[in-house]
Amino acid sequence: MRLLPGFLSVERQRTLLAEVRAVVARAPLYSPAMPRSGSPYSVRMSNCGSHGWLSDRSGYRYSETHPVTGALWPGIPSPILELWNETTGVAYAPEACLINCYGPTARLGLHRDQDEAAKDAPILSISLGDTALFRLGGPERKSPTRSFRLGSGDLMILEGPSRHWFHGVDRILPGTSQLLPEGGRINLTLRRVTIP
Ligand code: SIN
Ligand code: MN
Repeated sequence: MRLLPGFLSVERQRTLLAEVRAVVARAPLYSPAMPRSGSPYSVRMSNCGSHGWLSDRSGYRYSETHPVTGALWPGIPSPILELWNETTGVAYAPEACLINCYGPTARLGLHRDQDEAAKDAPILSISLGDTALFRLGGPERKSPTRSFRLGSGDLMILEGPSRHWFHGVDRILPGTSQLLPEGGRINLTLRRVTIP
């Protein structure tokens, strides 16, 4: 895992936020449902890119279209693509950008990202807004975990073995950033889905 704390200047964070707002205007945030139980996540989600990650009663999958509007996902904005090119060191483009929106009490349980055929491609995580207490484990659910803070403008790259490690968000620390006037946190997760 590679952590790049404070990688984004406030100006760059504002640019990314404006791009995310434009995406969400076309592809509204929605509350996904957990597989089987159908209970809602506390995190609201949307996507941009050719492949959007979805969770519903039938499971996890990638889809070309928004589950509520049925429209194709908007493209990944170029300032976001530039960050991928700047930091991941791979020559291929990401295909999925998951937008996770956390209110003050939202959290995300420990999980692995394993719905991608491109098993070796890195994952780039971009944090905006309030700080998250992020938990990173290892290859097994029972592997030891550690937690650290992801603040606004921090990047994290899961690459090599860490690409397949368990991770989650324990909680959001409200009031730790001024970036989002409404408070809360936005995380962008960029992934390659198909084998490059
Ligand atoms: C995720 O694993 O989907 C998101 C992690 C985060 O919000 O930092
Ligand atoms: Mn994940």
